[in-house]
Amino acid sequence: MPRLTRQLITGEELDRRELEALLDRALELKASRGDASAPRSLAGRSVALVFERPSTRTRISFEVGVAELGGTPIVLRGDEMQLSRGESIGDTARMLSRYVHGIVIRSGSDEAVGELANVAEVPVVNGLTPLHHPCQALADLLTLRERFGALVGLKLAYVGDGNNVARSLAILGRTAGIEVRIASPDGYRLDPGLAALDTEDPKAAVAGADAVYADVWVSMGAEADAEVRRVALAPYQVNTELLAGAADRAIALHCLPAHPGEEITAEVLYGPRSAVWDQAENRLHAQKALLELLVG
Ligand code: CP
Ligand code: NVA
Repeated sequence: MPRLTRQLITGEELDRRELEALLDRALELKASRGDASAPRSLAGRSVALVFERPSTRTRISFEVGVAELGGTPIVLRGDEMQLSRGESIGDTARMLSRYVHGIVIRSGSDEAVGELANVAEVPVVNGLTPLHHPCQALADLLTLRERFGALVGLKLAYVGDGNNVARSLAILGRTAGIEVRIASPDGYRLDPGLAALDTEDPKAAVAGADAVYADVWVSMGAEADAEVRRVALAPYQVNTELLAGAADRAIALHCLPAHPGEEITAEVLYGPRSAVWDQAENRLHAQKALLELLVG
């Protein structure tokens, strides 16, 4: 069967069938992790992991994931490459394509990642840009799948900044058949029409939801606006009172890193409804399935 997907930049590359197959595979990989029979589907393959911005989860989960599948991960910081001295992203893509079998990149520029993906002759994965974080959304969908079974018809409420994580949840959630609702203040709203419900009212978004999702108020690159953001987003904290309006079975999600007391309370983050730590673990399993699809 021809491979349909060669890259994951915005999440729109995956259709529902591919997305479901990827999540099925991720669950298999999770179940067989560490077994003698665990697949070595990246044997003989190398993957460049280019980080122009800080990362804990994305970097570690990709590095471990490539290694567990028998491949060689090569972690590269932007400031240790000639990129930092003016070599173009296009030439970087040309060269990397001669050495490695796939590229994961975290960058402060969606345009740069788009150019890398256009020029590269190997699959490219977006490991976070200002506009998108599709790998995060894959792990989030995997977590919902584990907790609730079928995804179609689930209701997910994202509360806070209409940022990269919100956009990727809206895009991939829609593909999965989830009703994604976003509550953000004026000035921090997502592109119109992307979510099933786009409101300024957190309570309206959360009403009856199966999952309530928080992300930081100050994303990487937005530090100059930190104080203004903390004021604008203060009414959008995910706390016990807000969660009370969700479904009885509702879980709390956060992509991490968290700032307890800001976008989420410690009570919710560390409480019984938190699925946050499974969600972080699921980065590994979802990305291993993605690597198999693109690079294996
Ligand atoms: N959630 C996430 O992408 O975390 P890192 O920034 O640590 O990679
Ligand atoms: N929205 C956050 C996500 C971090 C994983 C950021 O872009 O910094």
